[in-house]
Amino acid sequence: MTTVDLPLLPLGRGSDPATEPGVECPGDLPPASDPHLVERARAAKEALGDQVFVLGHHYQRDEVIQFADVTGDSFKLARDAAGRPDAPYIVFCGVHFMAESADILTTDAQQVILPDLAAGCSMADMALIGQVEDAWDALVDAGIADDVVPITYMNSSADIKAFCGRNGGAVCTSSNADVALEWAFGQRPEGTGKVLFLPDQHLGRNTAVLQMGIALEECVVWNPHRPNGGLTAEELRNAKMILWKGHCSVHGRFSAESVDQLRATVPGVNILVHPECRHEVVTRADLVGSTEFIIRTIEAAEPGSSWAIGTELNLVKRLADAHPDKNISFLDRTVCYCSTMNRIDLPHLVWALESLVAGQVPNVISVDAETQEWARVALQRMLDLPGRTAR
Ligand code: 13P
Ligand code: SF4
Repeated sequence: MTTVDLPLLPLGRGSDPATEPGVECPGDLPPASDPHLVERARAAKEALGDQVFVLGHHYQRDEVIQFADVTGDSFKLARDAAGRPDAPYIVFCGVHFMAESADILTTDAQQVILPDLAAGCSMADMALIGQVEDAWDALVDAGIADDVVPITYMNSSADIKAFCGRNGGAVCTSSNADVALEWAFGQRPEGTGKVLFLPDQHLGRNTAVLQMGIALEECVVWNPHRPNGGLTAEELRNAKMILWKGHCSVHGRFSAESVDQLRATVPGVNILVHPECRHEVVTRADLVGSTEFIIRTIEAAEPGSSWAIGTELNLVKRLADAHPDKNISFLDRTVCYCSTMNRIDLPHLVWALESLVAGQVPNVISVDAETQEWARVALQRMLDLPGRTAR
């Protein structure tokens, strides 16, 4: 199969079926200046009652999160979506791949709505199914495909999850990547297994090296824009982890220099970061974990303690507001909000809820039946992994 280059369409205009979200943004949005948006959202939600279940990822804006029935990281939200089979409408305040996972895990009678279709994920867009199939063909040619178990981070399109399901692999999230890797290596005779980790090289490397004890030299990076991923057959044969060359455009911007600077200027500061950050940031941090882990850590922290947090800014601001007795700062002043998470704003939420009240179901995220079947296999393998408190 040939690879597809990503066209650069302006967000919210046009349509691009080759990328994870597409970018069409239909409908008449209320203006952001409307002073009645909060009342309108409240009234629409009340009118819908149990018909609607609103899920909110921790990186969503405050103006949106106030209307979420449940909040969580991507692992918790996938489980929460599956736990409400009675609600015909699931409004997903998060990004496209999360809404796809919710569609896969909910019943056929339920519809999943993403208030703005331009809320995709640049990391998910860094691995296209054609590129992944090309990579798999190269592993076959190198004679190692039988040793490889593909694991994809939740932050990937449904067709890549389906690819993993079809090829004996699974999905993981930042809460359970270590358990997923342990499971994957356990699928092959001792010492022979390899993992193709998609699409976040940083989560893959950090988990393999820091939690599984795999050497850095045993991790290679597959670059989908270079012939044979930029790797020789020997490099592939010697590797334990084949990391896809993808990253989060938010977490990938935190730098080792900002950690060093904070340590030099804030006495006793604790550095707490998400595992999507680069290896040199994670190795300098005191604690590393998913968004749920970050929240629990701050909740349990001593009053007066100092924290610098490396994750999305909406969450860090909310934690700082909720814990005025602790000194909480953002790890790097140059890092921005996640622009796609922030596409979901109050006007889009009001528009989605009011459309439902009017009997129209907008922006339905629907994964085709065959993709669903195999993606569900990969997601179910993840949900069946031995449980433990999210890290
Ligand atoms: P988690 O929700 O798994 O912590 O992932 C963070 C993220 O970047 C979601 O887009
Ligand atoms: Fe994607 Fe990063 Fe935004 Fe999460 S924070 S949606 S991984 S770009």
